[in-house]
Amino acid sequence: MALKITVIGTGYLGATHAAAMAELGFEVLGLDVVPEKIEMLQRGEVPMYEPGLEELLRRHVAGIEGASGRLRFTTSYEEAGAFGDVHFICVNTPQKHGEYACDMSYVESAFDALAPHLTRPALVVGKSTVPVGSAARLAERLAAAAPAGAAVELAWNPEFLREGFAVQDTLHPDRIVVGVAGERGEELLREVYATPLAEGSPFIVMDYPTSELVKTSANSFLATKISFINAMAEVCEAADGDVVKLAEAIGHDERIGKKYLRAGIGFGGGCLPKDLRAFMARAGELGADQALTFLREIDSINMRRRGHMVELTREALGGGGFLGKRVAVLGATFKPDSDDVRDSPALNVAGQIHLQGGQVTVYDPKGMENARRVFPTLSYADTALDAVRGADVVLHLTEWREFRELDPATLGDVVAERRILDGRNALDAALWRKAGWTYRALGRPSA
Ligand code: UDX
Repeated sequence: MALKITVIGTGYLGATHAAAMAELGFEVLGLDVVPEKIEMLQRGEVPMYEPGLEELLRRHVAGIEGASGRLRFTTSYEEAGAFGDVHFICVNTPQKHGEYACDMSYVESAFDALAPHLTRPALVVGKSTVPVGSAARLAERLAAAAPAGAAVELAWNPEFLREGFAVQDTLHPDRIVVGVAGERGEELLREVYATPLAEGSPFIVMDYPTSELVKTSANSFLATKISFINAMAEVCEAADGDVVKLAEAIGHDERIGKKYLRAGIGFGGGCLPKDLRAFMARAGELGADQALTFLREIDSINMRRRGHMVELTREALGGGGFLGKRVAVLGATFKPDSDDVRDSPALNVAGQIHLQGGQVTVYDPKGMENARRVFPTLSYADTALDAVRGADVVLHLTEWREFRELDPATLGDVVAERRILDGRNALDAALWRKAGWTYRALGRPSA
């Protein structure tokens, strides 16, 4: 009989995973402790913006016309325990308030709530990003609390999905990493991922600690690459070089590669910044803090970008204060094709200028609602054109396609000054300059 799957936690990761599992042909039950989220999902609505996810969900949610009916949702752990052969834990692990360390409370509550309902053989699969050592500890806790005892196994299966590409990354993963303590875990996960495995996704089996480290080290490497190119941008600015050309040229070296070398205002989001910090904190606990001191520098380079963007804006406005100056900000999300504003460099820059007295108006194609919630005192406009009306300077801070397609001449008619600063190195400088704009970008010569 086909495996029955539960997905616990229906945020970016869980909602996508649940819909993807239904797409792969399994009966799926998604669980969340927030009833409003579950009600939305039951109606086939996704609580966030993620391209393709709503369509995928609506293809499978029971009760929706024409859907396969393989996907249902609940708030009951009892129901989840009775239903599932394989339980994926997809709850979030935010940064602890006032500390670098990872807040494990959602993961722990999920395990504690599920365990008493595991009365028959089952596999629990952790997907959340956790500090190394967590899986071994959780496996013991599970064995002690589950009525089925040793018939309940734990596997760790980190998730590498990128927001904006979540559906694609989940259905066609570039690798499947599995940390196990026994053979049954591997067997069941090979069954779950049979379709991507047949397509050729590599399946890499290892112990718990290595699987936990794969995720944090992958994110640290990506963060390092971004901060590396941003450090080069700082040097380029000092030496009048061009970081975009530099990135293109070094990227041709296959050992370096072109990806993740886009210089700009740096990385943000719900993963890279907090994972980096949690990794440093955990290494410290393990007595290996020296190995990761360089990550502190990666974090500082990244945070410096935001302040630098603010200073560049001040300079563009003549070097004085922001009082009475009108600043238009294009982009609020931490990256395009997402509505996520968690630790968004764009919103951070907008906020800093606002707090220094600037009149900041923000526009973002999908992130307005979330941005308003986080930063209600900023002004928001309904279109890019409205945002730039009367502006003394325009900041391009999230590289949405919509912004690349803007017509510099049309915008030029409504601004007070034709000044644009490209914080993402994504606009066509020549096009803007031709339309009479002063265009400046991070890490590039000013003219
Ligand atoms: C990241 C990892 O890519 C993913 O594998 C992991 O599972 C979760 O964290 P995500 O947070 O969706 O995914 O964002 P990502 O696309 O990696 O971008 C992170 C940040 O880096 C964004 O703010 C982006 O704008 C920035 N970035 C990325 C750059 O500044 N330059 C680049 O070259 C690439």
